[in-house]
Amino acid sequence: MRVSNFFLILLVNLGEICVAILNSGPSYRNGGDILPRFASQPNTFSAVIGDTIVLPCEVQNLGSFVIVWKRGITLLTAGQQKITADPRISLVGYNLEVRDIRYSDQGDYTCQIGDGSHGDLIHTVEILMPPSIQIFPNNGDVLTTRKGATVSFECRASGNPTPVVQWSKKEGLLPSGLQVQTGYLLSLTNVQREDAGAYQCTASNGIGQAVTGEIKLHVLFPPEITVAKSWVNSGEGLEARLDCVVQADPPGEVSWYQNSFPLQQTDRRIMSSKGKIYTLTIKNVQFSDFGNYSCTVHNSIGKDRKYIELTGKPGPARIISPAYSNPDYYDLRWVVQSVLPIIEVKILYRRINATTFYDHKGQWHDLVIKPEQKYDAKTSERLQSFRITNLVPDSLYECLILTKNQHGYSDVSDVHQWFSSDKGRPFVGSTGQIHCLGIAVMILLQIPNVLL
Ligand SMILES: *[C@@H]1O[C@H](CO)[C@@H](O)[C@H](O)[C@H]1NC(C)=O
Ligand SMILES: *[C@@H]1O[C@H](CO)[C@@H](O)[C@H](O)[C@H]1NC(C)=O
Repeated sequence: MRVSNFFLILLVNLGEICVAILNSGPSYRNGGDILPRFASQPNTFSAVIGDTIVLPCEVQNLGSFVIVWKRGITLLTAGQQKITADPRISLVGYNLEVRDIRYSDQGDYTCQIGDGSHGDLIHTVEILMPPSIQIFPNNGDVLTTRKGATVSFECRASGNPTPVVQWSKKEGLLPSGLQVQTGYLLSLTNVQREDAGAYQCTASNGIGQAVTGEIKLHVLFPPEITVAKSWVNSGEGLEARLDCVVQADPPGEVSWYQNSFPLQQTDRRIMSSKGKIYTLTIKNVQFSDFGNYSCTVHNSIGKDRKYIELTGKPGPARIISPAYSNPDYYDLRWVVQSVLPIIEVKILYRRINATTFYDHKGQWHDLVIKPEQKYDAKTSERLQSFRITNLVPDSLYECLILTKNQHGYSDVSDVHQWFSSDKGRPFVGSTGQIHCLGIAVMILLQIPNVLL
């Protein structure tokens, strides 16, 4: 009987404790007095400079206890009393309000009940900072380097949270081929001319505006000369114009030579330039003016030289007739640059035995002819044509042309190939379909030989 009584009392006590736990409400001192407890949870508060934040400290069963706010060991408030002199801090109930947040407000804030023996409620304030960057070399700088060099740009960013830093090129892609590259370091190896331009670093962290800085890259490079025409045809008493297109940074000195002798400007020989184009104009061309000319350019990094032949001979013929023909004849057409009339044309052509494409080609047929010519004074080009007859149908042919004027024979033209159509399918005109068919047949014919 006494034993069961004891258990009953124990159960009642246990029940009380369980109710206390389930309510997670007031805690009990041994004697049963209700103790104060925090109803607010510790938290981290993020704020941007200038913000107002309220740090909550709701307490249940406060009774006669006093609530105290502290930062470190510094007392901010006690009860309803404000202790700190900072005008930005005030109490809203027992919550602490901080206005016009500054960077120095970052840190922990403690709400205490009485002497702290009932625990502390600690809130953390973190200040969100918009990104800021520091660029090396300096923002807005122009970095000068040489072609082939390695350069590095650095973009150090700060802010909270840590900003994402990206490099991009103002115009076009980065040398890596990417639109943007993430990371504070941008390294460019083996810098090329086209890598010149403005490079931009952007830092963003979602707070405020992203910030951008810029560095310009200036790439010095040795001269590069291009010649649109490496030979120029002219005639005695006429004018000749030799052009060299020069790219160089720093700009270089351009000099002209004839057969490796340096040239001086004279009344008949005029050296001029317009932008990147450097021109040697020879007026009233004499026989002695024909020869091998060159332009040279030097700058502090290097030099270049390109040759231009001034000749009275015709230029190499440019064959313009299609890549297929009738079964048994072909109208070969070509243009040639010559201010003087063409007096003779040499045509070499042969059938290529399709079954032994790479081994045995037929014999060259060698023709010397004097065809008509249509002269275009503007381009000094002469259009000519000739009909080659007695072709074998369904065959691949190739030909070469040389033309001659009173100064002599031109260089040989490029090899031109065409396909003579099947007897059953005469050539009907220059339609793309037949053209393609001819090329397809040519390719098909070549495949077995390639496989061998
Ligand atoms: C001109 O001279 C240079 C140097 O001797 C040579 O390489 C080039 O082939 C010459 N050009 C012509 C068209 O003779
Ligand atoms: C093509 O080559 C084959 C084998 O060498 C030969 O029998 C045939 O006569 C040649 N055809 C022509 C048109 O040359």
